[in-house]
Amino acid sequence: MTQPVEPFTDFAPYYDSFMLKCVDYEGWVKYIEKIFKQFKFKPKTILDLACGTGIPTILLAKRGYQMIGVDRAKAMLEILKKKSKGYNIITYEADIRDFTLPEPADACICLYDSINYLLTEEDLEQCFKCVRRGVKKGGLFIFDMNTIYGLKVFWGNRESVREAGNVNSVWHNTYDETTAISTLYLTCQVKDENRTFLEIHKERAYDLPLIQKLLFDCGFSLVNFYHHGTFIPPTPFSVRVMVVAK
Ligand SMILES: C[S@@+](CC[C@H](N)C(=O)[O-])C[C@H]1O[C@@H](n2cnc3c(N)ncnc32)[C@H](O)[C@@H]1O
Repeated sequence: MTQPVEPFTDFAPYYDSFMLKCVDYEGWVKYIEKIFKQFKFKPKTILDLACGTGIPTILLAKRGYQMIGVDRAKAMLEILKKKSKGYNIITYEADIRDFTLPEPADACICLYDSINYLLTEEDLEQCFKCVRRGVKKGGLFIFDMNTIYGLKVFWGNRESVREAGNVNSVWHNTYDETTAISTLYLTCQVKDENRTFLEIHKERAYDLPLIQKLLFDCGFSLVNFYHHGTFIPPTPFSVRVMVVAK
């Protein structure tokens, strides 16, 4: 049996080719700018929390923002650094539950399930406190999350086979009702290297009132939830929500 490697290590070089096939990052970045507009907010510096390989970081840098990326996965940050030469991007290798910036940013974003990777309320609290300190007063903290419905029903207990570039992969999800944790067994076969690796990713879904309480406890004074991609409230069938805190 293949022994698992740490998440976002062996998969890092292939992350972009898989994600760009299924995530409309351009659309997501436009949505973030619409949120800025809705709040009459014009940030210059944006902290991209759990920036990974920096797909949204670079799109925002191209739109003129000074970007700061934080992620703990060295392999993901290395890809970002290779792609981002010439752009206004500073990166820090750090845990999103324990980081301090030299200067607070105007805004913070955290995209594509990254907050779901925090598996306890204490993890969330530590992260939200770091963000509160890392963003100027009145700045926005915008993040998306898979909902309980999303992890339980949309991802559920299912398996899919995907191909991108020179990698064949199997995505096997299981959902645990008692913990609200979805476990992804991601097996990749790198065709031309005749090599297989396994990464195990865990994401937890949270009730929205709990998220709101934790954000208030950590010093935020306004929390809005949207059905992702819109400005309408989430429904019981929203797979992903966007959270805007101030
Ligand atoms: C699904 S990827 C999203 C990357 C990027 N935001 C995007 O939109 O493509 C999740 C990222 O969260 C990072 N991550 C998860 N938990 C973390 C933690 N506790 N501290 C720092 N980074 C973390 C992973 O290393 C990974 O790069």
